[in-house]
Amino acid sequence: MAQPVKTFGKQEIRNLTKVIKSGNFAHHRGGFIDQFEQAFAKEFGAKHAIAGASAMVLMHAIPGAIGAGAGDEIICDPVVQFHGVASLHGNVVPVWADVRKDNFLLDPKSVEKKITRRTKAIWVTHLWGFPAEADQLRRVADKHGLYLLEDCAHAMFLDYRGKYAGLWGHFGTFSFNMGKHLGTGEGGMAITNDDTLAHELRRRIIFGESPPVLASNYRMTEFVAAVGVVQLKKVPRYLEEYRKGKAILDEVVGECDWLARRALPEGGGVSPYQYACIFRGDKKGFAPRALMNALQACGAAGELRFGLGFTQRPAYQYDFFRVPRAYGDRGCPYTCRLYTGKVDLRDGLCPVAEDIIPRLVTTNNMVRASVMKKKAAILKQAIRMVEAGKAPHDTYSGVQIAVLDIVQALQPVGPDPVARELARKGIEKSPSDVREIMESLRSGFPRKLSYAGPERFAYHDFTKV
Ligand SMILES: Cc1ncc(COP(=O)(O)O)c(C=O)c1O
Repeated sequence: MAQPVKTFGKQEIRNLTKVIKSGNFAHHRGGFIDQFEQAFAKEFGAKHAIAGASAMVLMHAIPGAIGAGAGDEIICDPVVQFHGVASLHGNVVPVWADVRKDNFLLDPKSVEKKITRRTKAIWVTHLWGFPAEADQLRRVADKHGLYLLEDCAHAMFLDYRGKYAGLWGHFGTFSFNMGKHLGTGEGGMAITNDDTLAHELRRRIIFGESPPVLASNYRMTEFVAAVGVVQLKKVPRYLEEYRKGKAILDEVVGECDWLARRALPEGGGVSPYQYACIFRGDKKGFAPRALMNALQACGAAGELRFGLGFTQRPAYQYDFFRVPRAYGDRGCPYTCRLYTGKVDLRDGLCPVAEDIIPRLVTTNNMVRASVMKKKAAILKQAIRMVEAGKAPHDTYSGVQIAVLDIVQALQPVGPDPVARELARKGIEKSPSDVREIMESLRSGFPRKLSYAGPERFAYHDFTKV
């Protein structure tokens, strides 16, 4: 394993020790949360930075903060589900607009077509560190009197036309979970230049003794901020390393006429997160499955893993959105009497997203450039193998097949029950061995596993691609 890019050292330890010694781990005047908020606002050039326990909970509070609620709609990005979930938490109906064919970022033209008199906001994601066309989206929002909300979970210091992502909209939200550019375990930050919105958000995320509005406790701890304030200074260095790695893989993808690089909107920078290119091998008669098998044969496993198809489908095709059980099982908010629209979640709703998601070939870009170099070599070799018609067929061991079958039947499921099921089939394996097998199957293809919460795995089947 190469040295991780992110470093946690003396400064973080010094700050954490200070917190412990102070005996006060919660927000207090002049503490690390104040320092983190102020430093974040300064670095981004925002008037307000508001810290929370995670990006997701800040997003839960945002519909309320902008005055959205029963009967309203928020236009969401179909490639990810976060905004749809946050909208439902605010009793708002998510409406899905399509994405651009060349970079799968929210398409301002599609957004404009989805606006109704019920629309309150547009929620855009700068997915995997590429900027969406925030200037155009802001123009659309202003023209129709809507809020623009930016999900910047993958977009630290992401420059777009001379302004950071997060500042084009009314709110920008950042995530500090461990998989993000700035990792503190958990945590999030919202930025805004609007005093009223800052006030409305703050009073929804801290409950107090006599809440003036429906609120909750979505507070950050001093421990998180103690680490965050140091990491904030380190992120630009991490991003430099990720950009070097991205350029290396871009070169290999650029040489292949059936893998398409993501298009960068004019005037956009990149804060690399997940590397993604688009599989167009079908035009040459190649199957995505052949590429995945070739990648595996060339050593794409563990930290060199590639994935295909991301979540396989747009968010509106999840049962969770199609079978409305957000508030009991009586159909709210879709069937709320205050809602005058007609919920549209049919297949074909966002044809570009439906076509493109299964074509995404992805790999983690938040690694050393030296690791990206190895991935580039593997990809180059795999491309040649596919073109020569030498991609191997699917190969799994007997135990792997048994594990896949069990997870398929019991998912989401952890190693312990799988070990028990294996024993019932006469295969004796310890839970830690089973965990290792399950971990290895994350880079399996066409049948594979993914994480589904702590110590649990879900099953995916790409045998038809
Ligand atoms: C695009 C996007 N938005 C929001 C979130 C939620 O962030 P958090 O884990 O801090 O709640 C994530 C987390 O993975 C994300 O990827």
